[in-house]
Amino acid sequence: MPTERSREEVPPPHAVGKRPTDAPSHPDILKILLDEQALRSRTRELGAQISRDYAGRRLLVVGVLKGSLIFMADLLRAIGAEVDVHVDFVAVASYAGTASTGTIRVLLDLRENPEGRDVLVVEDIVDTGLTLTSLTETLRARRPRSLEVCTLLDKPDCRKIPFQPKYVGFKIPNEFVVGFGLDFDERYRQLPYVGVLRAS
Ligand code: PRP
Repeated sequence: MPTERSREEVPPPHAVGKRPTDAPSHPDILKILLDEQALRSRTRELGAQISRDYAGRRLLVVGVLKGSLIFMADLLRAIGAEVDVHVDFVAVASYAGTASTGTIRVLLDLRENPEGRDVLVVEDIVDTGLTLTSLTETLRARRPRSLEVCTLLDKPDCRKIPFQPKYVGFKIPNEFVVGFGLDFDERYRQLPYVGVLRAS
């Protein structure tokens, strides 16, 4: 008997490669993994779940720049009025040469004080898990009331350190993806879909 597909799984092939809203194609994209419709629909589901979980509460939503910018904007609009949403951003980078330790350098810090507040960190992708492990440790030291992570994409096969975000848009295979905020060498962030980059 067929089992019900997890909402986090990449949609079946019929949705891959379709561009229902005339998104501009790009010659460097091998295939579209998640089209606009799949991204919109899953983001609405995540927004509804977050709205239920934080109903009646004040929530500090923290976008991790730059990759989260497009997902963050869509997710915010999917969170209902029952949540008192405040917005802030951080930007982080790995210390050069110490990627295996996962130590991050904060390039842009919060302007809001997270102490005693419900905080939701929004990311585009969790790959090795090093960035979010380090970032959440840093934020936890500032004693938020609660701290959770929402990521659009999760590559569980690539973890170097165990990390489980509470909210996951899609679990994806280990392919190099760009678009919808994700870059390669700062390019392709504007693509309205998540696509696999063609090997050069
Ligand atoms: C990406 C992504 C995460 C991190 C995930 O950021 O936005 O922050 O990598 O990788 P990890 O799980 O292996 O640590 P990136 O450094 O590419 O910067 P960007 O957000 O500016 O694109």
